[in-house]
Amino acid sequence: MSCTIIVGGFFGDEGKGKVVAHIANKDKPTIISRGGVGPNAGHTVQVGTREYGVRMVPSGFVFRDAKLCIGSGVLVDPRVLKHEVEMLGVKGRVFVDKRCGIITEDHIARDKGSDHLAKKIGSTGSGCGPANADRVMRISPQAKDVPELAEYLLDVPKAIDDELKKGKSVLLEGTQGFGISLYYGTYPFVTSKDTSASQIAADNGVGPTKIDDVIVVFKAYPTRVGEGPFSTEMPTAESDAMGIQEFGTVTHRKRRIGEWDGEMARYSAMINGCTQAAITGIDRVDKACLGVTEYGRLTRKAKEFLKCAEDDIGCPIAIISTGPEVTQIIDMRKEMV
Ligand code: IMP
Ligand code: MG
Repeated sequence: MSCTIIVGGFFGDEGKGKVVAHIANKDKPTIISRGGVGPNAGHTVQVGTREYGVRMVPSGFVFRDAKLCIGSGVLVDPRVLKHEVEMLGVKGRVFVDKRCGIITEDHIARDKGSDHLAKKIGSTGSGCGPANADRVMRISPQAKDVPELAEYLLDVPKAIDDELKKGKSVLLEGTQGFGISLYYGTYPFVTSKDTSASQIAADNGVGPTKIDDVIVVFKAYPTRVGEGPFSTEMPTAESDAMGIQEFGTVTHRKRRIGEWDGEMARYSAMINGCTQAAITGIDRVDKACLGVTEYGRLTRKAKEFLKCAEDDIGCPIAIISTGPEVTQIIDMRKEMV
């Protein structure tokens, strides 16, 4: 039995979706449950030549035997959820905790219409900030109050506990990244909730003593979308010249690109209680590493980068992603136990 949390160590978009999909295929969890803020997050999962962007359904959907849950801390936009369930053909496998907060059209209008949120902070305009504000004011609806969600309702913490008691594996998937945590990020340029591993456990109603592993995902070249400080940011001309260009899954805004930030990595690993790190984008450190699936086949340049990153993080690097596709990965978790 094991309960693993996967979170982002920088500013989001570290490649958690891909790492979750790989771990799901490999560990065969019976439940994959999503924590985090809500549909402001976009996860990209590439299987073969098909690319999926998900905002509500857990990125572990590619592993067909798992129940896909949304924990009670998460905000649900019923329209986004329904659209994804149909697009991915996952009806019958998706469950929403009955206590999830609901995003209404009014929340979206307030998010997009607020100069503070939309312009100064650079929010995603998905309604999450206003919906969390209403939740704190105790005036927002919950999932159980929305007829169109009736077929999805579940007591997610109980379902997870039942699986853990049966000795099964459960994956708790975080969204966003450490740097945009409301508590520990670059306030006020942050999202509307904490994004650290403890929050992801709380979002799913899983007590801290039941967590076995916390995998923190870092990308070799961190990115940030929206406003706010980014100490290792590179001039666009430099990242363009390196062939690094990224666009947001939700807003399609161009992501800002930066160099590896060892200090942030260490602090993030500390607060997340990292037990194992994952590094994505090694193919950007050295193009010759694209698609490599064995550590021994990485180039010296890549290995040197990983050694420095591991020293910074202060935790073993157990997973190395070498490209966007789900099988382009080196998984050393077994060898390390
Ligand atoms: P909000 O969460 O939509 O209110 O946006 C607040 C800030 O967090 C903005 O800078 C967003 O770009 C950023 N943000 C929110 N969710 C994500 C995410 O999943 N990945 C990256 N940035 C995000
Ligand atoms: Mg994303």
